[in-house]
Amino acid sequence: MCGIVAYIGKSDATPILLDGLRRLEYRGYDSAGVAIINDGGLVVRKCVGRISNLSELIQRDPPHGSVGICHTRWATHGGVTDENAHPHFDQSGKLALVHNGVIENYQTLRDELIREGHTFKSQTDTEVLAHLVGKHYDAAKGEPSKARLIDALRAALKQVIGTYGIAMIHSDLPDFIVGARRGSPLVLGIGKGENFLASDVSAIVAHTRDAVYLNDYDIACIDRENFEITSLLGGRSGYEVSKVEFSEKDVDKGEFPHYMLKEIFEQPETVRDAMRGRLSLEEATAKLGGLEMTAAELRGIERIVLSGCGTAFHAAMIGEYLLETLAHIPTECEFASEFRYRNMPMTKDTLVFVISQSGETADTLAALRESQRKGHRTLGICNNVASTIARESDGGVYMHAGPEIGVAATKSFTSQLVILTLISLLLGRIRHQSTSEGIRVIEELEELPEKLRTILKLNDQIRDVAHKYSDAKAMMFLGRQFNFPVAMEGALKMKEISYIHAAGHPSAELKHGVIALITPELPSVFIAPEDSVFDKNISNIEEVKARKGPVIAIGTEGCTQLEKVADDVIYIPKCADYLSPILTVVPLQLLAYHLAVKLGCDVDKPRNLAKSVTVE
Ligand code: G6P
Repeated sequence: MCGIVAYIGKSDATPILLDGLRRLEYRGYDSAGVAIINDGGLVVRKCVGRISNLSELIQRDPPHGSVGICHTRWATHGGVTDENAHPHFDQSGKLALVHNGVIENYQTLRDELIREGHTFKSQTDTEVLAHLVGKHYDAAKGEPSKARLIDALRAALKQVIGTYGIAMIHSDLPDFIVGARRGSPLVLGIGKGENFLASDVSAIVAHTRDAVYLNDYDIACIDRENFEITSLLGGRSGYEVSKVEFSEKDVDKGEFPHYMLKEIFEQPETVRDAMRGRLSLEEATAKLGGLEMTAAELRGIERIVLSGCGTAFHAAMIGEYLLETLAHIPTECEFASEFRYRNMPMTKDTLVFVISQSGETADTLAALRESQRKGHRTLGICNNVASTIARESDGGVYMHAGPEIGVAATKSFTSQLVILTLISLLLGRIRHQSTSEGIRVIEELEELPEKLRTILKLNDQIRDVAHKYSDAKAMMFLGRQFNFPVAMEGALKMKEISYIHAAGHPSAELKHGVIALITPELPSVFIAPEDSVFDKNISNIEEVKARKGPVIAIGTEGCTQLEKVADDVIYIPKCADYLSPILTVVPLQLLAYHLAVKLGCDVDKPRNLAKSVTVE
């Protein structure tokens, strides 16, 4: 949700900032802007629209200078206008600031500042913060200095309620950039003769792989050669320099026209990476050291709660089936946004997992904190290793799926499902599951990458099916048991990127209302592999066909029954019921992708969405 980049070095800052901003566009893309220190003053360019619009604006009159900050916005406070685009300035016009987060008490602060004579150009909460820092800076006596600016920032941040990842420059101090974080991510990149601040390392990985992931309340001051990190709470702050695991190549589309397609095609490898080194055939179990729990503690778990948002929530829903089937542990899943306010009664032996690709989703982070506050061990299933959730959780399992840039989650979903299967296997094996049952699960898991490759070969067929139904105004997704959440995920993918209204339901619920919608114009997608509920799904397909509804089915290869009832069938290889979502979701990802491309939608950056939702 909003991305920021700051650069100080010896090169021209604008192209570096723009390139970084393009890598962060997944965080928001309704407007963008840049401010550069030039000849003792600040030059700003900002406009509504994508980074490409900003780039065109800049090409007409490029600002030059080796120190600058920039921002890509996902609007929270104030509409999408040039005035509301960041950077924002203080009253003097000498201080420019970019911000990711929400200043909750901005209205009170703004009213107070207006009473003191401040005038505002935008409706944003960020401009209030810029004015507040500027006010404290201007009120301080003495020469312009780094200490004076940092003190002003401290004073302002102490008045602020909310979340922020910020970077700011002041034309009085052309050799510094100051950043701070609370609740929104901020990383410091250490280069040679140059330093960076960014919301995410992907923005700076082309220049350096040495990074410091800042903690809440850190204030970072960077110049060309050095950096200093202090704490808003007082004193210096401890930090660690980490090596970024991925390179610039990993954040490129490569030969694919879209990140989403690239990420769908990466799944044979990412699924393999999620289980790599974590399976022991000898002990017929999974090894997950990151959980940081002893066998006795694992055996003592009486109940599990899984929580997340969006696609991660759908993974949690499947996790509920997996844990109950393989580990026989009562499990519940809950939207993170509901969990945090629901006050679910939980016994002390309840284990909580929060699932998040980015590890920064505000609601999921709040669910984690709420669960910890109540004394529950709370573990994370994250992709982003340096994320807030990964760092604050009491342990967890990483997805190792590499950067996911397409706004619609794809490979992270299948990685989450592999990890939930590993957890279920581990917990099942220390309870009731036999060695041979454990070995069977491992063998099934190991066959997944090859089966995924087989499905990806159907890309052309799936594209043709997508084109056949591209006039549809709405779509229904139906599945049972393990594949009911897949129906919801298929519908979410369709809505997110093609803007076609879609809904996912348990197939059996059809007759309790949904069937009223069935017409020859409404295609239904049935996820109906040959599993224990296959015959029931066939009956539901018949019910739709009897009402002349077109049916696309996802079935198991070799099954002849589906062809007789469905209009189009996409076949996936046979696998165990509990692993089928990892396979059945892939045709649904491709279906949504090809339909969205056919409709001319911006697949990687769907309207109104952002990949990392760092506001409530
Ligand atoms: C946003 C994205 C979704 C994603 C959800 C949760 O809404 O658009 O694709 O599933 O956030 O994200 P997380 O990073 O927590 O998995």
